[in-house]
Amino acid sequence: MSKKVLILNGSPREKGNTAALAIQLTAGATDSGAEVESIYLHDLDIRPCDACDFCQEDGNGCVISDDMQALYPKMRDSDVIVIASPVYWFNLTAQSKLCIDRWYAMESSEDFELAGKKLALLMVYGDTDLYTSGGIIVIYTLDSICRYVGMEFAGIVHGTAMDVGDAEKDPALMDQAFQLGQKLVAPVS
Ligand SMILES: Cc1cc2nc3c(=O)[nH]c(=O)nc-3n(C[C@H](O)[C@H](O)[C@H](O)COP(=O)(O)O)c2cc1C
Repeated sequence: MSKKVLILNGSPREKGNTAALAIQLTAGATDSGAEVESIYLHDLDIRPCDACDFCQEDGNGCVISDDMQALYPKMRDSDVIVIASPVYWFNLTAQSKLCIDRWYAMESSEDFELAGKKLALLMVYGDTDLYTSGGIIVIYTLDSICRYVGMEFAGIVHGTAMDVGDAEKDPALMDQAFQLGQKLVAPVS
């Protein structure tokens, strides 16, 4: 059965640098026989977790009636989840973080429903490197999430791209995203 990859694109620019990397990753993964769905979070109604803790009782889902309700089953059904986000103010975008906060409802007394899945990161920033841009904070955040929920942090592609079109001018960056798509769905040898 083909692997399923879900890309959560947290950029407000529908055709920006993050989207360019997501297209490359999609091409790499589909080239290797995977099914890929890309979600543009900015268009969705995703409200902040209100910490009601209803979801912390086993069997209860999240009570907030918004577009996360359609995303939960897609996440459960995926083998790989890709967070695709630009760096905003030295961190993930608010769109990405709103979605991730709501993963709280995927915990049960046994385990996190995401345990055993792969997580990958596509990230662009305007500054010159991981440290000046704040990208390192995003990596630290996602690494911590993976440890907490039991996911495998399976790959990162990041690079400098400020204006729309910049990522496409960097063939090495585009190629890295394509190759990550292939790697994420490659059979375990
Ligand atoms: C509100 C805002 C905050 C930003 N903060 C940072 C930052 O902290 N570090 C950085 O290197 N670039 C920052 N940038 C630049 C974006 O990361 C960069 O333009 C990126 O290419 C946007 O990706 P996109 O084209 O997919 O939207 C910021 C841009 C905006 C609009």
